[in-house]
Formats: sequence, structure tokens, C-alpha cells
Amino acid sequence: MVNIRVWAPKAMHAMRPDLVFFNSQFIIQNSYFISVMQIRPFQPSDLDTLYRIDQECFPPGISYSRNELTGFIGRRGAKTWVALANERIVGFVIVDREPQGVGHIVTIDVVGGMRGKGVGKALMKLVEEWAQQEALRMIYLETAENNHSAQTFYSALGYGKVKEIPEYYSNGLAAWVMVKRFQRR
Ligand SMILES: CC(C)(COP(=O)(O)OP(=O)(O)OC[C@H]1O[C@@H](n2cnc3c(N)ncnc32)[C@H](O)[C@@H]1OP(=O)(O)O)[C@@H](O)C(=O)NCCC(=O)NCCS
Repeated sequence: MVNIRVWAPKAMHAMRPDLVFFNSQFIIQNSYFISVMQIRPFQPSDLDTLYRIDQECFPPGISYSRNELTGFIGRRGAKTWVALANERIVGFVIVDREPQGVGHIVTIDVVGGMRGKGVGKALMKLVEEWAQQEALRMIYLETAENNHSAQTFYSALGYGKVKEIPEYYSNGLAAWVMVKRFQRR
């Protein structure tokens, strides 16, 4: 895929200096650099990188094995997108289409050094565009009871806690199920 460099007009930087969207292209700016990010569908050669990122993002008992990741990505209704900065994968999301108009976010991972810059939000925006195309009525996900930053992230995007599942993870932690509902057109 061609990596098109897009530069935001100064006026837009003034409105939202850290993140400016141009379709699926977005720009992240901090005091050192401006880099163009791109989101594209998963390619099989990405698998090792996604596995490594997932291992970095989650403790044992919550992170997925290579086989689990392969299984999720390969599901018939699943979509996986990866976010790139300077051609390096900095995050990804796996979402699965379940029966009865329900979407399930299997995981969303952003590498440590790139968090808080809008990468996760951009991936979630794509997930919601997909949900709209698929006419889904809701998306749900599970997040560990102690993962407060992820809970804040999802809340900011309109997801609400609906249920706590005790000992959901193999390390004994409970999970919150969080849901966002959509109006069908
Ligand atoms: C959770 C995660 C995906 C968020 O991605 P991100 O790129 O860091 O998030 P963004 O920069 O797009 O943040 C979007 C919004 O979420 C909220 N947010 C994100 N990280 C936050 C944090 N650590 N604390 C508080 N709020 C946070 C903010 O409200 C932010 O809104 P803003 O744009 O108005 O500032 C990322 O931190 C991550 O990969 N964490 C480790 C893996 C993980 O826990 N995944 C979720 C599994 S359930």
C-alpha cells in the first residue's frame, strides 16, 4: 500500500494540534515531529509483530498466544486493522462479527511509546465505520477489572459497563463487559 503523506492546514492544527483526520489518514504532532499515520487491513506477514505487541501490552493470562491470535484473525466475520507510523506497526485492533448484529472487539493494542496520541481512537473510528456498514446494533468487549486506562478510553468513546464477570481471565482477574449500542438506519 502506498503511504501518502498528508499535511494539515495550519488552521486545523490550531483547532486540534495533536490529531487531524483526513479520511483514514491522520497526523500526530508533538514537540519533536509530525508523522503521517496510516491504517490498513492485516496482512499475514504482520502476525509476528502483532503477537509481540500483544505480549508487551498485556500480562500473562490476558495476552494471547500466536495460535489464539491466528484463530481470532482468521474467523469468518473478523476484521483486523493495523496502524502504521513511518511504516512501522504501532497498533492494531481485531473485531469479530457475531450473530444477531453484534460486534465483539477481541483486542486493541497500541505500543507503549505511541499511547495517548490518538492511535487507539483512530482504530476505534474504523471499527465503528465497519459496524455501520455491517448494520450492527451493538459492539461489546471485555476489559480487565484493573485496566483503568482502557476503561477510561472506552468510556470516552461511548462504551458503558454492563456486567462484571468474575475470574474471566486465566490469571483470576475479573472482566468488565462494556457495550456501545447503535441506532439501526
Ligand atoms: C487502551 C489503548 C488501546 C488506548 O489507545 P491510545 O492510542 O493510547 O488512546 P488515544 O490516544 O486514542 O485516546 C483516546 C481517548 O481515550 C482516553 N484515554 C486513553 N488513554 C488514557 C489513559 N491512559 N488514561 C486516561 N484516559 C485515557 C482519553 O480520554 C482520550 O481522549 P482524548 O483524545 O480526548 O485525549 C492503549 O492505551 C493500549 O493499547 N493499552 C494497552 C492495551 C490495552 O489495555 N488495550 C485495551 C484492552 S481491553
